[in-house]
Order: sequence, then C-alpha cells, then structure tokens
Amino acid sequence: MATETAFNWAEVVNYAKRISTAPPKTQYELPGVTLEDHLGVPVAVVPLWHAVVTARLTLTKGNAKSLKAAQERLSRALEQIEAIYPLNPGGIFIQVAYGLPYFRDYLPARVIDTYMPRALDNGKRGDRALIDAIKFPKDPATLILEHNDISFHFKSDFNEHISDVIRALFHPGTHFLNSIPVENVYVGDLFNMTSIRRGFAGRGMPRTIARRLRIPGADKIPAGAMLFMGFTSSHVHGLAQGKLPSFETIPGYTDQTPESYFAHGTIMHLSHIVIDLEGWYSLDHKDRLHRMFNPRRTEGPEHLSPPQAPETSTFKEQLEDDAKKTGILGHNAQMQFLSRVDKDTTTVYGEVIPKGTALFLRQDFDTVENPFEFNSDAPVSPTPVPGVHFIGFGPSAQLFEKIRKEMDGAELQAKFHLPDENTGFTKFLVTTHRQNYLEPPREHRSFPLAELI
Ligand code: HEM
Repeated sequence: MATETAFNWAEVVNYAKRISTAPPKTQYELPGVTLEDHLGVPVAVVPLWHAVVTARLTLTKGNAKSLKAAQERLSRALEQIEAIYPLNPGGIFIQVAYGLPYFRDYLPARVIDTYMPRALDNGKRGDRALIDAIKFPKDPATLILEHNDISFHFKSDFNEHISDVIRALFHPGTHFLNSIPVENVYVGDLFNMTSIRRGFAGRGMPRTIARRLRIPGADKIPAGAMLFMGFTSSHVHGLAQGKLPSFETIPGYTDQTPESYFAHGTIMHLSHIVIDLEGWYSLDHKDRLHRMFNPRRTEGPEHLSPPQAPETSTFKEQLEDDAKKTGILGHNAQMQFLSRVDKDTTTVYGEVIPKGTALFLRQDFDTVENPFEFNSDAPVSPTPVPGVHFIGFGPSAQLFEKIRKEMDGAELQAKFHLPDENTGFTKFLVTTHRQNYLEPPREHRSFPLAELI
C-alpha cells in the first residue's frame, strides 16, 4: 500500500510520458521494434529476452469484492512499472492473458455469456473463441494440456529488467526497479505461480548460447541465425501487422465489433516444443529450405530470411501440387491458406489488405529449458535442451486449431503418401505443454470483466 515515503517516479521522469505516441490499444503490438534489412527482405528485430510466468489465482471463487480489489492492485502495479520502464524494447513489455479457468471459475455465467467473443461458424455465432487447447495428431502421449488462470509475457532487450520486474511483482520483500525501492508493485499473494519460462530471440544468440552449453548440433546453427532452426521467423511479411490478429479486425472470424468490450483483444496459444537439432541439421541446406518454406525455393545458404511478401504465399491448390510433384510440404506453405487472407480484404477499420497478407502473429522465442526454469507440477531438469516457447495470436482458438492441424499435415500426408520427414518439420519437434488464453485489450488487461460483477 502507498505510504508517504513511497518514491514517486512520476516526479522524476515518467517514462510513459516520454513516449510521443499513445500506447497501442492492443497488448501485442510492440512500439519501438525496429526493422532490419536481410539481403533486401524486411525483418523485425524483436526484443532479445523473454519470460513467461503462469499462475493460478489464490482468490476465493465467487468473491466479487476480492476480485475487484485484485483488479485495482494489478492495474496499479503495471502502471507503476510502465512509469519506470519505457514501453519499448529498451524498457519492458508486459502482456497479460487469461486462461479459460479464470473466466469459468471467477466470473458469473451471465457476464461471460454477454461479453466473451464467439467464433463465427459459417457466418453464424458458434462456440466461444476461447476454448480448451487440444492434443494434435502428432503430439506425444505425454503432452500436458494446462489449466492456468493467467499468463504474463515479459519482453525486453535487457534481461535484468525482466528479472527485476518478476521479483517486484511476485516475491514479497523490498525490491528495486532501476535501483529505487518500489511499493504497490507486489501482487504475489494473488497468485500461486505454476511456471517460469525464459528464453531469447536475436541474431547470433541461438548459436552462441547453444555452443556455450555444449548442446549437440550447436556448431551447425548458422552464425547469424535468430532462432535454433536457422531461418528467420520474424519476417515483417510473415507476422500479422497492426491490429490484424484482433477479434474484430477482419470480418468473418468472430462476433466482435470495434465497440465490443474485447475489441483489440486476441486469442493466444502458448506451448513448449523440444527441437531435435541434430536431426534437423542432418539435412542439407536445400532440404531444410524446402521443409521450412516450400520445395520451389532456390535461395542459397546465405539467405536465412527468404522473402515472404504476399505474392510469395502458397494457397491450397499449390500446396497439393507441391505434394504431388515433389513429395514435400514446407512448414509455412502448409498453413498460409489459413494464416493469410485468401482475397483482397477490407478490415473493419477501412484498411485494404492484399490477398496473401498474414493475419496470424507469432511472438515465440527460443529456450534451453527442460522444460521450464520453474514448474510447480513436476521437477525440471538441469540438462539444457533446445526448444521454443511458442506464442501465437489469432482471432479465435478455432482458427489456431485449424492452422496447427495443417502443420501436422496428416490429411495431405495420407493423400499423397508422404514420409514424416517430408511433411514440414514436425518430425523434428516434440510438444510438451499447451494452453489457449484470451489476451484482452490493454484497457482491460487487469482481470477483465471484474468491474462488471
Ligand atoms: C520450432 C518451432 C518453429 C519454428 C522454428 C518455426 C519457424 C517458422 C518460420 C521460419 C516461418 C517462416 C518465416 C515467417 O513467416 O516469418 C514460419 C511460419 C509460420 N509458422 Fe512456424 N515455426 C515453428 C513452430 C510453429 C508452430 C508451433 C506454429 C503453430 C501453428 C507455427 C505457425 C506458423 C505459421 C502460421 C507460419 C506462416 C506465417 C505466414 O507466412 O503467414 N509455427 N515458422
């Protein structure tokens, strides 16, 4: 609670005010992320360090007063952090998302029935856009479907910012942000933390980190790669830009409009994937290029970021043609008929986007955790393994499900008798955990809907 002695950052320098533009209405847009030119191809230089904290709430279910008090406290804590660190990669980004158990267990049915987005099914209101994650055809029997109430995703170019903020939010005692003790930031009593997951994404980092940890296959990672598997996955053209992944932006996905409570919100999928690096790098450059993109690609090994502009998109007919003619499906080609718009489209905000524009957003990062830094439900192993904490955003969990099924590619594989190693790259991945979340708009990032009960 505030005391007279609390240090007032706003009187020194309030970083939220140093930024000339208003913060985005979404949580997932990242102001200040710069672009880089990779041999003529635009690539986003995403924040270098990442952490995800998942938790279950300690609050008594059905107690409106304690939920409202929690809403105020978390809101104040996040505001205080943003007064200290700018909302850009040099400061910190914090994205808060909520699992189905939060909505189901802490909010009255009448409130969620009124406000939760519904996916459209052939133009009609169908199921809620947030549904439980499923086990996909190629997931292992050991896959864990998680049931967290909340997830925090922290991103910054400075790992210390993330560690300091996690300590101040979740650990009791006196903590420092930018070397000054903070009050009103601790909200740890509201949560039982279930996991901490950390990682990184940045040119040269996967190889350097993997070599330092003597991870088998590390020497094969190209020196300039941003991710373990070599190719760039933050192409400007491969990531949904602006508000495209929000519930309401592209007509036809959900019943949300720009006036809805959850407008500027989205669905997030969080999973952890182990990568068989040695297996992947036993393929030569051309074989990796074809399995990552499509078998028509001809770029040489110096091209870690082959162009992804709308006109390079693969749609269903071409995908089947690839399978028929070459017996190979590329990872992004497998999904582009769903992750990109299939015709010139006008958004609800009047923006015209050409056929082949990506509407699905990925903010995943590499990790060496096995499987997490901390896991309340099972022991973690100190042996580093290369992997990805996958984070993807789109307007409905139903869309994610369709996209992810195509990544396994079981249907086309059976139709064209493709071996596992020619069906994208799922042969080299093992998913250990999954959960879907709803990431509310920034305005409602603290315990959404609590103010309405
Ligand atoms: C180890 C894990 C993964 C790696 C290394 C990886 C890497 C990549 C790369 C390099 C691209 C093409 C470049 C780009 O579009 O920016 C891509 C595209 C894509 N990835 Fe993945 N990916 C992984 C897992 C996943 C998962 C689990 C999904 C979930 C469905 C996914 C969904 C997509 C989609 C939808 C695209 C196409 C985006 C578009 O072009 O519209 N990826 N990925």
